[in-house]
Amino acid sequence: MTKILLKNNLATQSHLLVITNAFKNEFGLPDKVNDYIVNALKEPGKTTLTYNYIGKYISVFVPDKKMPAPQLHEALRRHGATVADGINAHKGSELYIYNQTANAPLSLFAAEGMALGNYQFGRHRTEKVKGVNTLKTIFIANSKLKNGQVTELGILCEATCRARDLVNEPVNILNAQALAKAFEHMGKEAGFDVQVLNRKKIKELKMGGLLAVNAGSVDEPTFTIMQYKPRGAKNKKPLVLVGKGVVYDTGGLSLKPTANSMDYMKCDMAGAAAVGCAMYAIAAAKLKVHVVALVPATDNRPGYNAFAPGDIITMMNGSTVEMLNSDAEGRMILADALHYAKQFDPDLLIDIATLTGSASAAIGPQGMVGMGTANKKQRDVLQHCGLQVHERIAEFPFWDDYDDLLKSEVADLKNIGGPVAGAITAGKFLAKFTDYPFYHLDMVAPAFLHSKDSYRGKGGTGVGVRLFFEFAKRY
Ligand code: BES
Ligand code: MN
Ligand code: ZN
Repeated sequence: MTKILLKNNLATQSHLLVITNAFKNEFGLPDKVNDYIVNALKEPGKTTLTYNYIGKYISVFVPDKKMPAPQLHEALRRHGATVADGINAHKGSELYIYNQTANAPLSLFAAEGMALGNYQFGRHRTEKVKGVNTLKTIFIANSKLKNGQVTELGILCEATCRARDLVNEPVNILNAQALAKAFEHMGKEAGFDVQVLNRKKIKELKMGGLLAVNAGSVDEPTFTIMQYKPRGAKNKKPLVLVGKGVVYDTGGLSLKPTANSMDYMKCDMAGAAAVGCAMYAIAAAKLKVHVVALVPATDNRPGYNAFAPGDIITMMNGSTVEMLNSDAEGRMILADALHYAKQFDPDLLIDIATLTGSASAAIGPQGMVGMGTANKKQRDVLQHCGLQVHERIAEFPFWDDYDDLLKSEVADLKNIGGPVAGAITAGKFLAKFTDYPFYHLDMVAPAFLHSKDSYRGKGGTGVGVRLFFEFAKRY
């Protein structure tokens, strides 16, 4: 992980990002360099500049005063990622962020984009490879920030990168049990309770949805319960997070075609990674919020007694589901988790899942699709947090008549809707298993990128971690 540190004495020799409204040469640059920068910034509309001065990389960012704060912060993150790329191209190991504006926190957004943009998933490359990032430390110089703010940002970036690691691990390395172990480990490190239920216990609890999806697998399912309850927590009833932990989705007997649709299905536990790593960040930063996170996990395969289209499954809550498509497996395992959550009497429950191609087709990786029964205030705060951290939520309708699409002739429900509104019928299916304020996030497209987008590289993005952390902070 890239380190982010506060350090007030600026090393004049190092690489530099200057955030400024009017560039002042506080870095001992020769006059000609200063004049060049000052003149270049006079060009109308010029807001960023990069200059190479004998091996020293200098980047300048001029905040646009007319930009609303969330956009400006995102522009800084993106600029930070560009700077990180530049420093790596220079084989630099550290840089200073120097903020000449009165808005001290601006440095944090730039550092965030740098640290996240500097992430690489290289742990399985045994050969010496080219292109390994050299940037190791980001110093935030001479600012009015507190150490705590910088430490917190470091924790959050680390948690996001941990989520990316989990998503990027393939199923032959990270099966349901390994995922649960990773959460146990994080619980020990950050200080939250982790309990893992094995197949025997899952059977005792009659989690029919989770067992059905696991029936075609040789690996055991797991159900992980994480709890962080600090002294002096602000909320009486917990915030409950639920993440889809399908460690690999072949589609089961309703097999996916291999090319393009199965190749990246190791990402189907991105929701689980998001809630587990959000817990890690919330506990490590010692936020005063009571949070519970639940992760039902299994792979979805066509082996053994794999559930067959047409099967009728009795869920943990006693209701029956006609499984018409084994590729609609996420909702089956989530449903049991949503029922299990009732014992916590959630103030609000948010689930996050790579659930439907429909959500991806509708809005693409630009955002998550959201819907649910949470109250207006809760939804407004979530929306607001989404904009703040640029993990945006596009809210879909949740009208009653969508329920009709889930009616079955032989069971209480069927696990697929019709050809239209697939993201919504999935959410509607889940809502049947809740009796508390509920919000569903379909993260399908932004969870895993097929091409780099600034500080979010190819592969797992860790989306959800920053959203939940921000939400917990505002609780
Ligand atoms: N895991 C998939 C959704 C998905 C699609 C994740 C693309 C990542 C990238 C999910 O389990 C799934 O297969 N959904 C089906 C549901 C359908 C059968 C009702 C889908 O959306 O096609
Ligand atoms: Mn599926
Ligand atoms: Zn899936």
